[in-house]
Amino acid sequence: MAMSTIEELFEHELKDIYGAETSILAALEQMAGESSDREIKKGFQQHRKETQGQLKRIEKIFKMLGQKAEAETCPGLEGLIKEKKAFMKERPSEDLLEFYNVGAAQKVERYEITAYENLIDMADKLGLAAAVELLEQNLQEEEATLNKLKAIASEFDVSEGATEEEEETVTSRR
Ligand SMILES: [Fe+2]
Repeated sequence: MAMSTIEELFEHELKDIYGAETSILAALEQMAGESSDREIKKGFQQHRKETQGQLKRIEKIFKMLGQKAEAETCPGLEGLIKEKKAFMKERPSEDLLEFYNVGAAQKVERYEITAYENLIDMADKLGLAAAVELLEQNLQEEEATLNKLKAIASEFDVSEGATEEEEETVTSRR
């Protein structure tokens, strides 16, 4: 049998989130570039900086385990990125893409939150108190980011965006 211990699973999942955070770094940069709203752009840039810190914390845990930091491709996260790329084929308006990105980022946060909760549970079972502490810090940042994204989404001004009705009016004016 190739894998049978929680310790091995913990390491595996740590590599997975390490890979995910690395992909997220690039995705956040792209979404910041696609944002014209200053608050949203700043939010993505700020979380990108936080993500760099999160990667450092994960590297610390690898070190504590006597392992070198290694990223595993995270198909779950890659799937979310693929979904966003596919959406671009719908040729969304700038405003709609911005709104979409806020929703897509929430999906990513949910994924990360669950990944960290699982890791914390395993680290706790393994008696890795220092790892629990570092993972808790990452989890708290993800939760705060999710809440911020939710607030941005609910305050998003759709009146300027192309609601279907407006689009029709524009078309009929031509
Ligand atoms: Fe993260």
